[in-house]
Formats: sequence, C-alpha cells, structure tokens
Amino acid sequence: MEPPAGKTNLLSNILVRVLSFGVLVFLARFAYVVTTRGNSCDSGDFCFFSSSSSLRLRTSTVHGGGRGGDSRLRNFYSSVFQDLIAEGYLSPHSKSLCIETLTGQDVVALKEIGIADSLGISPKTLPPLVISGRAIRQPFDNNTFDFEFSGDAGLDRSPQPAQFASEVSRTLKPGGFFVVHTASKDVYSLNSLLDLFNSCRLIRSRDIDGLDSSIREVVLMKEKQILGHGERNQSLYRNSGNKCSVPGYKRELIQNAEPLILEEPLKPWITLKRNIKNIRYLPSMVDISFKHRQVYIDVGARSYGSSIGSWFRKQYPKQNKTFEIYAIEADKAFHEEFRTKKRITLLPYAAWVRNETLFFEISREPSKKHEEKGRGMGRIQAVQSSSNFVGDLDKIQGFDFANWLKNTVSDRDFVVVKMDVEGTEFHLIPRLVETGAICLIDEMFIECHYNRWQRCCPERSSKYQKTYTQCLNLFSSLRDSGVLVHQWW
Ligand SMILES: *[C@@H]1O[C@H](CO)[C@@H](O)[C@H](O)[C@H]1NC(C)=O
Ligand SMILES: *[C@@H]1O[C@H](CO)[C@@H](O)[C@H](O)[C@H]1NC(C)=O
Ligand SMILES: *[C@@H]1O[C@H](CO)[C@@H](O)[C@H](O)[C@H]1NC(C)=O
Ligand SMILES: *[C@@H]1O[C@H](CO)[C@@H](O)[C@H](O)[C@H]1NC(C)=O
Repeated sequence: MEPPAGKTNLLSNILVRVLSFGVLVFLARFAYVVTTRGNSCDSGDFCFFSSSSSLRLRTSTVHGGGRGGDSRLRNFYSSVFQDLIAEGYLSPHSKSLCIETLTGQDVVALKEIGIADSLGISPKTLPPLVISGRAIRQPFDNNTFDFEFSGDAGLDRSPQPAQFASEVSRTLKPGGFFVVHTASKDVYSLNSLLDLFNSCRLIRSRDIDGLDSSIREVVLMKEKQILGHGERNQSLYRNSGNKCSVPGYKRELIQNAEPLILEEPLKPWITLKRNIKNIRYLPSMVDISFKHRQVYIDVGARSYGSSIGSWFRKQYPKQNKTFEIYAIEADKAFHEEFRTKKRITLLPYAAWVRNETLFFEISREPSKKHEEKGRGMGRIQAVQSSSNFVGDLDKIQGFDFANWLKNTVSDRDFVVVKMDVEGTEFHLIPRLVETGAICLIDEMFIECHYNRWQRCCPERSSKYQKTYTQCLNLFSSLRDSGVLVHQWW
C-alpha cells in the first residue's frame, strides 16, 4: 500500500503547512495589534485586552514608552484616590476632572478604581481621556464638577496661579472638592495658596509620600457663597477698619531674621554696609509661588543703579518670578534714565503722608560730593517749614504713600519695599501703621537716618536730629508688630 501511504503523507504534510501558515498569520496579526495599535478595542477589529488594560496601553503608547514609570505613577494616583474615597471627598458618582495632567495616569487611575465620569484637560490632547484645555481657561460651564485634582505640582508651575484658582472655583460645584499636590511645604505658602481660592474652605492639609519625595496634599471645599476675609480660616491679616495685625505664621518668620544691630556702630559706613551679608531674605525662607503678583517698591529710588539695578535685580532672591517694579523718586535729575528701563513704573513724586506740595532740598552741588554710589541727597520739607531752610529748593508734589499702597497692591500679592527717604521714614512708617497699609508689606528694607558718626571727622552728622536709639526703636517696634524689616545702609 505504498501509494496510499505516500498520498496520506503528502496530505498531512500539506495540512501541517497550511496549519502552521495559519498560526503564523495569526501570530503576526497579534504582534501587529500589540506593538502598533494597542487600542484596537475601539476600532472594530478584534480585541485581545480587557478595557482597563487597553487604557494602560493607550496612555503609555501616547507618551512614548516609560511603562514602568507610568505604572508606578498610576499606582500612586490609585492609592491617593482610594484614600480620598475612604475620607469621603471622592465617590464613584463624582464627576471628576484632572487639571493639566502631564501623563494622563491620574485619569486612568480614576477610571480604574471605578470613577466612570472622569476626564483630564491638558494643553496637549491625549484622546479620549484627556481633552484639550488649560487650567487658566477651563472649557467647562460653571458648577460642573464634584471633584477636581491638580497633580504633578501643576499649581506650583502655573505662571498665573490666581487665574488657575479662579477657574477651579468657577467650575467646581458648591460642596465639591479640590485636591492639589504641591512641593511647597512652608506655612507661608500654604496660606498664600488658600488666599487664592476666595470661595473655598480648607478641609485639610497633610504630607504624603510622593514618587520621589514627600509632597503636600491640600483638600479644599467650595462654599455655597463667596467668603469674606477671616472666614476662610487663613486670613493673611485681619483688617477691621484701619487696624491690621499680622498673623502668627508671619510673625514666626521674624525669629529667623538676622538680629538687629543693638549697639550704635562707630563706623556706620562699614558696619551697616556689611550687614547686607547677614540679611535673611524672605524668599530664602518661604515659597512665594502662590502669590498673585510679585511687587518691588523702591521708595527714594535715586538712580537706576543705586539699588534697583545693583541690588534688587542682582541679589534679591526672586524664585524665578518676574517682579513688577515701582520706583518712587521726586528728583527730576533721575527721571530720564527710567524711561528706557523695562518693567519699571516711575512715580516722579515724593512719598509723603498726604497729597500736598512740598519743598525738596536738592544738594547736588559739586562741592559737597555726595556721590556715594551715585546717590545724591534730598530732604523733604513740608511747605510750612520751608521758610527757615536756606538752600537750593525745588517744589515737588508729595502723595499719600499709604493710601497709594492700599490702592495698588493686595494681600494676595508679594510686596517688598525699600525705603531710603532721608529722614521722612519717621513720618511715613507711623502713617503706614495707622492706616493698616503696613500689613500689605511682606518684607521691608529701611535706611534709618540719624546723627551718625562720620568718616571725615570725630563728630556726629548734624544733618539729622534723630538718634540711633530712635532708629532702633523704629525697627524693633516694626518687628514686634510682625513686620519683617531689615536695617538698610
Ligand atoms: C460663571 O461664574 C462667573 C464667576 O465665577 C461669573 O462671572 C459668570 O457670570 C458665570 N456664568 C454664568 C453663565 O453663570
Ligand atoms: C478654623 O475654623 C474652624 C471652624 O470654622 C475653627 O474651629 C478653627 O478654630 C479655625 N482655625 C483658625 C486657625 O482660625
Ligand atoms: C529658573 O529659570 C531658569 C531658566 O528659565 C531655569 O533653568 C531654572 O531651573 C529655574 N529655577 C527654578 C528654581 O525654578
Ligand atoms: C491723592 O491723590 C491721588 C491721585 O490723584 C488720589 O487718588 C487720592 O485719592 C488722593 N488722596 C487724598 C487723601 O486726597
């Protein structure tokens, strides 16, 4: 029976080949789907994966690999959200939004743990879970979400934190929760963060283990109505009428400031100048990211180089923020150069306690050589007292500095003031305190003018009547009332 046996052999050979070809085609198709498509479940082709694993594939494919990192991230978000469910801030029925998600893994985690109605927005769309949208302009109606989340320190990175916050406050439903992860952990920055959300109440803040380091998780709840100051449990300062008081967390920062120089320096031109090395600047102690604006006000600015250019722009720690700069300088000699400087607003007046015309001593006489680093001297004289002053007098406009400050900045801004006003500090400071404008200032540098010892001769300067003790009292009383003030030279 040779031929039939041969025939059977041939037949089974053919069968085996056909079958193996079929298997090969099948495997090739499988490999194609796995490696290049990943998300074929939506495409009407056949589907190898359960819907949740296809979500994983989708997001990791979109971000070009790093599956290990993505799954760590996803597990991290899963555990974060499960804790929030356990605490009652999130539920399977919450309509949820992840704001400016970098990877989409937070949205994937929400879906995986059963929060079906969840979505992400990002400038870079990752369909279908993450649609196009920005934190500062959310593409949603008012009162849309029960839960909003900002991970990846998104609020820290936002160039417009106030706009970010107002959009959250707008699109969250009353009673809805906002959870934010931030790298800033000091109390000052927590309070500035809370101040951005004028319709939300702090529920809790705690540190949790992040992927690389510990991070702060803050939970806020949107109130039914907009809250006033003080109702939010974090008011920067309580302002009743004109009185203001600096809250405890700000006062505590003063304990970290450099000590005041208690002994009157015998060589003030050296001692006070050296003191700049000891200064503990506020932005070296706290994070200022959550402040609405960053503002520097130079009262008695003199020339651009005298302190804005030489010190503020070069040495003051700014945490990469762009400060708005106001230069207040009444002396016309300095005005021209400010016209060419960008991002500086010149106020060509004298900071004073009310709006009125003043006489201003211009001692630019070459003989006197008051050219310490380009600073001329100028002394304000109110109109009445000008008669007994002999010298070169200029009529200038004085303005109510405290009033201007209250109209120009708010407690949501980070405000730094340098004041070098040739003795007028003894009028301006009490006025700032009296009006409550002092509480708007986060950090202050004052040159206090007194009858100091001079370099030229063993005599005190006769230019100023105040004593070093009076200056020291000015500084101590400011620090006692919670103002972070430094001695300037
Ligand atoms: C949405 O809310 C904002 C302020 O949160 C308000 O100005 C605006 O009028 C509201 N829009 C609608 C349609 O109610
Ligand atoms: C915050 O508010 C709660 C209740 O409204 C109150 O019990 C608590 O003392 C407040 N805390 C501060 C620091 O004001
Ligand atoms: C500040 O900005 C520069 C350049 O824009 C960047 O290289 C640097 O990392 C930033 N520093 C901080 C602390 O953000
Ligand atoms: C001072 O002048 C400014 C600007 O003209 C004005 O806004 C302000 O109300 C005035 N202040 C007083 C106390 O008159």
